[in-house]
Formats: sequence, structure tokens, C-alpha cells
Amino acid sequence: MSRVLVVGGTGLAGRAVTAEAIGRGHEVVVAARRVPDDDAESYVTGAAYVTADLVTGDGLEEAVDGVDVIVDTSNAVGKQAAHVFATGAQNLVHTAARFGVHRAVLLSIVGADQSGYAYYRAKAAQERAYLDSPLDTRIVRATQFHDFVTAIFDRGRPLGAVLAPTGTRFQPIAVSDVACVLVDAAEGGGEGRGEPDTVIHVGGPRVESARSLAEQWKRGSGSRRYILPIRLGGALGSTWRAGRNLVPEHAVDGLGYSAWVDSRA
Ligand SMILES: NC(=O)c1ccc[n+]([C@@H]2O[C@H](COP(=O)([O-])OP(=O)(O)OC[C@H]3O[C@@H](n4cnc5c(N)ncnc54)[C@H](OP(=O)(O)O)[C@@H]3O)[C@@H](O)[C@H]2O)c1
Repeated sequence: MSRVLVVGGTGLAGRAVTAEAIGRGHEVVVAARRVPDDDAESYVTGAAYVTADLVTGDGLEEAVDGVDVIVDTSNAVGKQAAHVFATGAQNLVHTAARFGVHRAVLLSIVGADQSGYAYYRAKAAQERAYLDSPLDTRIVRATQFHDFVTAIFDRGRPLGAVLAPTGTRFQPIAVSDVACVLVDAAEGGGEGRGEPDTVIHVGGPRVESARSLAEQWKRGSGSRRYILPIRLGGALGSTWRAGRNLVPEHAVDGLGYSAWVDSRA
């Protein structure tokens, strides 16, 4: 059993990691700026919670004290992303190294190292902070979560539509499947091929067009909205159209998109 610190453990992926690590018998501490009440959706029974801020550094020493391994599932959007991913990662890895933390696992995104999209550039800076640290580091690059792909479709709601980016394919994955890979990495495992790789890729079970996934979402959710094809501009659009968000050779045998939609209906 290890003492695992899940940074951002109140978020979507972090909650799944916390539950998975507790289920495997680890002692889990969750760090975030806000600690949830024990009746909140983000509260995982069995975890201990500490308040810490990656950017200011407040609470980080208390959070890492006595920890064997860190799993970083923090997130931020807009201008905050650069602060949390670059500055925050530096603060965390340096504090962790001072306190003798052995291993760190970072949740990143497939293609984060190959895109001019500002959020991906911030993720790439976050990856570098980990790779340059003295910690035994694993970067787990995952494809888009089922929830994320669904959120894209749902952006058409004000128009009575389901948005489907044209020329784009996704390989969506369940956060529970990502959490298994992250906890494997926290335990020192790689991709199951013997050697513990520094960068681990993981994708959902199937690569499918945005249109096909939108149809599955409509069927499963009973939505009567029409599918609106849109061409996504900017660096993110070109990254996705080039297929740099896909890793079919690293597909998990996990929960597919339509089964996930059905499970939520
Ligand atoms: N969405 C996808 O499809 C996808 C795919 C692959 C990888 N990822 C990666 O997965 C990671 C997690 O995403 P998510 O959607 O699970 O995140 P999320 O639900 O937005 O959760 C973010 C977590 O980070 C914490 N946090 C934010 N700022 C912080 C700070 N300054 N100090 C400490 N904690 C802070 C939040 O708690 P507080 O706000 O209380 O601090 C929360 O616990 C991201 O790095 C993302 O790039 C996402």
C-alpha cells in the first residue's frame, strides 16, 4: 500500500483516480483549492482532503508530506491554464522532490506535444516540468473523455442542434478506464509490455467520426435535435483534423461511447 496524493482529486478524472486507488487499498489524500463536504458529489469516501493551491504554493508542503506518489489531475481553462500547468507543476514537483516523494504521474492529452493550441501548449509545458524533475515520472496521455465529446455536442443546445466538427474523429474513453491506467502507473507499471515507459498513451476502444458519435449520443439520450456540421477553426481544429488526437494502437478494451451514453440515460 502506498500513500497517494491526487492533486485535483475533486475533479472529473481526479475523483475516478481517487476511487480506483482506494479500491486497490492505497491510502489517498486529495488536494484542491476547495475541500468538498462529505455529502458533495465530488467527495470520495475513504479519502483524506487537504487544501492546496498549485499556483500560490499554499498548502503544498502539508499535502506532499509523507506521500510516496503524486497523481496530478489538475485542470484550468483560459488564461489560468498557463499558470496552473506551468507554474503550478514547477511548484509541485520542486516541493515534492524536497519532501522525498518518489514518483509522479501526470494526466495529459494525446497530441498535447504536437499542437499550437494555447491549452495544449500549456499542457506541454506542464509535461516538461515533470520530465525535467528528479521524480520518477510517468506522463499518461489520454484521448478525449466521453464527457468531453458529449460537451462538444451539447454546445449546440442554444441552437436546438448537436454540433459535430467536420473532418474530425475521436477515440473517446471513459474516465474510469483512464483512472485504471493512472493508478497502474502510480504503482510503477507501464503499458503492460515489461518496461515502465515514461510516456504512456491510452485511448478509447474505437476511433469514430464526430458525426457517428453524435448519432450515438442522439439515439442513447433520445435527443430530437438535428446534427449541425461545423468546421472547427484554429490550431485545435487542425490538430484534430490531422488525427493527432488518436492512438488506435493504444486502444483500451474498455467502456465504449454508446454503452457509456446508455449507462447515463
Ligand atoms: N477532458 C478530456 O477529454 C481530457 C482528455 C485527456 C486529458 N485530460 C486532462 O485531464 C485533466 C483533468 O481534467 P478534468 O476535466 O478531470 O478536470 P476538472 O474536472 O476541471 O478538475 C480540475 C481539478 O483541478 C483542481 N484545481 C484547479 N486549479 C487548481 C489549483 N490552482 N491548485 C490546486 N488544484 C486546482 C480543481 O479543484 P479546485 O478548483 O477546488 O482547486 C479540480 O479538483 C486535465 O489536465 C486535462 O488536460 C482531459
